[in-house]
Amino acid sequence: MTARQGPLPTAGPMRARPPRLLLLAGVSACLLAAANPARADIPLNYLVSAGARANHILPLTWGVSIISVLVVITLSGLLLWAILRRRGGPPTRTFDNTPASRGGDGLRWISWGVGLSSIVLFATVIWTIRTVARVMEPDEEPAITLEVIAHQWWWEVRYPGAMPSQGFTTANEIHIPVGQPVRIRLKGADVIHSFWVPLLAGKTDVIPGTVNTTWMTADAPGTYRGQCTEYCGVEHANMGFLVIAQPRPEFDAWRRAQASSAAPPARPRAREGEAHFKARCGACHSVRGTGAGGRVGPDLTHLMSRQTLAAATIPNTPDTLARWIIHAQDMKPRSLMPNIRMPEDEHAAITAYLQTLE
Ligand code: CUA
Repeated sequence: MTARQGPLPTAGPMRARPPRLLLLAGVSACLLAAANPARADIPLNYLVSAGARANHILPLTWGVSIISVLVVITLSGLLLWAILRRRGGPPTRTFDNTPASRGGDGLRWISWGVGLSSIVLFATVIWTIRTVARVMEPDEEPAITLEVIAHQWWWEVRYPGAMPSQGFTTANEIHIPVGQPVRIRLKGADVIHSFWVPLLAGKTDVIPGTVNTTWMTADAPGTYRGQCTEYCGVEHANMGFLVIAQPRPEFDAWRRAQASSAAPPARPRAREGEAHFKARCGACHSVRGTGAGGRVGPDLTHLMSRQTLAAATIPNTPDTLARWIIHAQDMKPRSLMPNIRMPEDEHAAITAYLQTLE
């Protein structure tokens, strides 16, 4: 439009600053990303993969990213060229003088632009469909099938057994055998969440009232970070989880231990804590083998076998555990776990009891 050809009336020296800063930030981010393309120690890195499913998705991730960057560079270049290229004659100042056409050159540019971008888009669509089809099912039958239920803001993990007594429920830490596909049936307890373990598997939405299925394989033993990736409320960012891949014998031993009920505490202090726990916490939390059977919060039967608390947001240490019991709202505001007032000796006894839940 001709009215834009002169300097904008509001343009001053200060207005140039934010775009320049933005440009600098953008370039720095790109350089950082380019310098670290294969940093597997970045827990949510999706530019590398560590399992069969992610291996199939990775080329598409890189391909589409590179195409997008090339498109932005090309368009910016053309735009800059169009701005800087001076046409002859003084700029026209009124709409009346704006020519309706500038000759036959323009249409050729549009045809080339639409044609080229259609080819690129079409190729990307085909590539995406083929990749989605490829990762629908693993090559071999999954070794185990788990059920993961997303809650505001934590993950319930159910391991079914051949017999009901061999099944168990845990939370926020998913153990899997290395090198074998694991199928995961995803259910939503309240709002829409999304299940994502970037190094092992792409995102799958978790929707209340429906069951979505995903699968993953870990090529090497290790701990992989997962994260809810659909905004689900104030603590969405603190809805993490861990996937712990273990060699099969180690995994089987873990599974056997998890299926067992909690051992009764030996020390009097912890026994006292168990009674307080059942009275204060048993309506929300389960500890198998005791009277505590609440289903609102995580099953705590083998709490001390977990590395983290509060959906992988804090390490599971005696100190953080003691604080979490009475100050959950300060550590994870708006979670369903309230701040609980209790006498100090009761607090100490419950902490001592929970620490026996190996
Ligand atoms: Cu759950 Cu975001």
